[in-house]
Amino acid sequence: MSPARVVEPQPGAFTTEVELPGDKSLSHRALIFAALAAGTSDVAGLGPGADVAATAAAIERLGVTIDGSRVVSPGSSDWDEPASAIDCGNSGTTMRLLAGALAARPHVTTLVGDTSLTSRPMRRLVGPIEALGGRIGVSERGTAPLTVGPAAGLTGARVEIPIASAQVRTAFELAAIQSSGDSRLTSPPGYRDHTERWLATLGLGDRVSPTEFVVHPGRVPPFQYRVPGDASSAAYLWAAAAIHPGASVTTPGVTLNPGRIGFLQVLDLMGAAIEAEVTGALLGDPVGTVTVRGAGLQAADVAGPLTTATLDELPLVAVVACFAEGITAVRDAAELRLKESDRVATTCAMVRTLGGGAEEDDDGFRVVGLGWLEGGEVHAHGDHRLAMAAGVAATGATGPVVIHDADAAAISWPGFFDVLERLWSSP
Ligand code: S3P
Repeated sequence: MSPARVVEPQPGAFTTEVELPGDKSLSHRALIFAALAAGTSDVAGLGPGADVAATAAAIERLGVTIDGSRVVSPGSSDWDEPASAIDCGNSGTTMRLLAGALAARPHVTTLVGDTSLTSRPMRRLVGPIEALGGRIGVSERGTAPLTVGPAAGLTGARVEIPIASAQVRTAFELAAIQSSGDSRLTSPPGYRDHTERWLATLGLGDRVSPTEFVVHPGRVPPFQYRVPGDASSAAYLWAAAAIHPGASVTTPGVTLNPGRIGFLQVLDLMGAAIEAEVTGALLGDPVGTVTVRGAGLQAADVAGPLTTATLDELPLVAVVACFAEGITAVRDAAELRLKESDRVATTCAMVRTLGGGAEEDDDGFRVVGLGWLEGGEVHAHGDHRLAMAAGVAATGATGPVVIHDADAAAISWPGFFDVLERLWSSP
């Protein structure tokens, strides 16, 4: 295991602007859409993390070549048949999205992952893909290894997905565009709808309501795209500003997809000053500039679609809640237990270990805002979002925080800790 990282308290305010790494969710999608398209796409500004690298390596196994921003693919109907399993590493998005994209292939493809990914739920893909006439095999526990295919032609289908999962929706949609007829899907609201926006822009789908979408079969054309900044990475900087009254951080070029910015709504409810301006849209998905300024914070309640739109940032909500007055409650977050770690348990353990008050619930947690944290030793449990949340906690704590397994941050943002610490030394 790599040496622990020590993050020191950073008293005082800062004012700065930060260039963000490319968005992870959008990088996976851009690579997989470029792989589905026959021809040359141009995809610039991919996310720098190990998860995106796993998707890039996976599509290379299918015969796609990536040279700088040029992604050249034979198109999904002419993908190579990999001779051995494709390794998705730690990346649930790689595994679930690829499973959908591969579901129309006439041969079997096996998808494997690391120990954490191999414990995550995959059975949720089976029903939607089977409805289209495809096949996905999972282990007895409902996990990877996944065997996808063989398919002898997919047909359109109508499915209700019981969880607000963008990954399951996207897997279904990427298979459905390769079927012979229209498909229709619904799921609870709040999910990131990047894929639906892209499909609608490309003429491959229509939104019927916030929860219902129709997919039209068709080919993805080659495209040009610059990946916007990652809202989930920006969230750590927004949080650092929020817990330091008078501090301010500006993040231009960030994705402002409504399913990605629940955390800004939570900060707003807590009393931080937020400015968000949409400056454009890429493939129908809004991009803009966000500035967050720190102020005295109050507790907030997070539930329903707001929980879904804040899902990846909930460990960070717990950290910010420690510096807010009152009890912050997060509900409807059962999915949080099924991420790279059981984030209900690991988040509460982190808060307690740093001298804060946190209680687990089945589908969420409550954090008592004491107004401070003490510092201490945190284990990231291989979970990038835990490692980075602990870094933010340290900047507002009264003592240093030793983060074991801090390198887990490289899953989405290698170099995160240097950027975090530089906030206080920027001109
Ligand atoms: C993602 C969807 C979410 C999110 C994950 C990335 C995506 O997962 O937590 O980090 O890019 O579609 P679920 O679809 O499982 O909610």
